[in-house]
Amino acid sequence: MNTLEVSNLRLWDALTDTILVKDSSFQIKPERCLAIVGESGSGKSVTCRAIMRLNRSNIRQSGSIKLNGMNLTGLSDQEMRKQRGRQLCLIMQNGMRAFDPSSVVGNHFKETLKQHYGWSKTEIIAKMAVAMENVMLKDPVTLMNKYPHQLSGGMLQRMMIALAIVLKPTLIIADEPTSALDTLSRYEVMEQFISLKSETGCSMIFVSHDLGAVKRIADDIVVMRDGEIVESGAAAEIFTNTKHAYTKYLIEAKQALNSHFIRSMGGLKLVDR
Ligand SMILES: Nc1ncnc2c1ncn2[C@@H]1O[C@H](COP(=O)(O)OP(=O)(O)O)[C@@H](O)[C@H]1O
Ligand SMILES: [Mg+2]
Repeated sequence: MNTLEVSNLRLWDALTDTILVKDSSFQIKPERCLAIVGESGSGKSVTCRAIMRLNRSNIRQSGSIKLNGMNLTGLSDQEMRKQRGRQLCLIMQNGMRAFDPSSVVGNHFKETLKQHYGWSKTEIIAKMAVAMENVMLKDPVTLMNKYPHQLSGGMLQRMMIALAIVLKPTLIIADEPTSALDTLSRYEVMEQFISLKSETGCSMIFVSHDLGAVKRIADDIVVMRDGEIVESGAAAEIFTNTKHAYTKYLIEAKQALNSHFIRSMGGLKLVDR
């Protein structure tokens, strides 16, 4: 059975009567990572939020979203809240926004884990400490007593990954989780995403502009443009046997950037230009 099955998803803005996503269908198999790529405004985030049921109320939807065979669109808001966190975990671009700014980050972990698992405070701290060390966060107990603004974007994202390790949701949705980070933190956080996927056995949606990162983590790829899926398939196939002109453009743009970088660093011989 597929972990996630999105069928004929259509999203529109009821205020302006604009269609945001047209008839989108894709599946994710257990333990696989599906990357959603495409330009800004192509509908990647609204699609992720539709799965989580976190879109604003002006955004309406039709179609079905099944998680392990259960149709999420049929659940009440209260039932859906139970799915979020426990079965579905969203990691956003800006780690800061995931946390309550007026509370130390440990409180966020305690509330989330208590709600879903009913563990005691001590159990939660112990489990989180192990997970945080797993994602290379040293001195976890001190970190849990910090406010979000006292931590870097990379640390906050790694804390979200640590929380996902403990929650072990069925599906992790990471929406451009490294875009707001500097190069070094981006690399470190990416490493943790790769091990998160291999160690927890969760299925994952990984939205990214960074085709280099996508190549490392994705098993399958969906390419979106203007609210439509223009190409989809196994990652290896898409990178080597690109069918759609738009995907070719995305891959070539990435290669052009790479070679520009290599050239500007003096790394290419004349014949390579
Ligand atoms: N809350 C909203 N209300 C109305 N339109 C929205 C809202 N959020 C996003 N959109 C529109 O939906 C389209 C897709 O946006 P989004 O999913 O954020 O793109 P991406 O994540 O691919 O950059 C855009 O045209 C955007 O303006
Ligand atoms: Mg987005």
